[in-house]
Amino acid sequence: MHPDIADILFSKDDIKLRIAMMGRQISADYKDVSLLLVGILKGSAIFLADILREIDADVNYDFVSISSYCGDTSSSGIVRVIKDVDADISGKHVLIVEDIVDTGWTLRLSYLKENLLTRGAESVKVCALLDKPSRRKVEVNIDYIGFVIDDLFVVGYGLDYDGRYRNLPYIGVLKPEVYNRNN
Ligand code: IMP
Repeated sequence: MHPDIADILFSKDDIKLRIAMMGRQISADYKDVSLLLVGILKGSAIFLADILREIDADVNYDFVSISSYCGDTSSSGIVRVIKDVDADISGKHVLIVEDIVDTGWTLRLSYLKENLLTRGAESVKVCALLDKPSRRKVEVNIDYIGFVIDDLFVVGYGLDYDGRYRNLPYIGVLKPEVYNRNN
């Protein structure tokens, strides 16, 4: 285990099993239609790559990049889509893929779902590997959830702290001294 990690919440095998289950569910729900996974960079990249290979359907993928908010910009609604979807979305069933839904501001303030629907997507749903409902500030409907977690800051499997730890094969809780060291 990495020395900065206090506890492993989900091992590599836990994640693999759960994603296989989610993939089976998504395959059943989207059989006979064209599915486009739209991952939100950067955190969702690893999750998207793994769930993609568990989906047995007509599926493609793309990424968007959304500017992160800070301070009170969240309440002023400034969250911008920096990189848009390149793929043609008209008539597609879109599944937004997010690493973790925390406050919900990113999904809400980017208007990603509304935007994709306006541009002709047949349906838009949301799939998140992790959900931290106790931190929610705005209501967000998540259609597929990997794991529900408590109010803990987690890293690994694509999730970072200050650009680090994305490569860990498990999802773990960061030791508090790591934050304190940087603050
Ligand atoms: P939200 O807008 O508050 O829902 O936050 C979503 C984004 O915040 C995620 O896509 C992550 O990039 C980041 N985030 C929230 N909680 C965590 C965490 O525990 N670890 C790492 N990143 C997190």
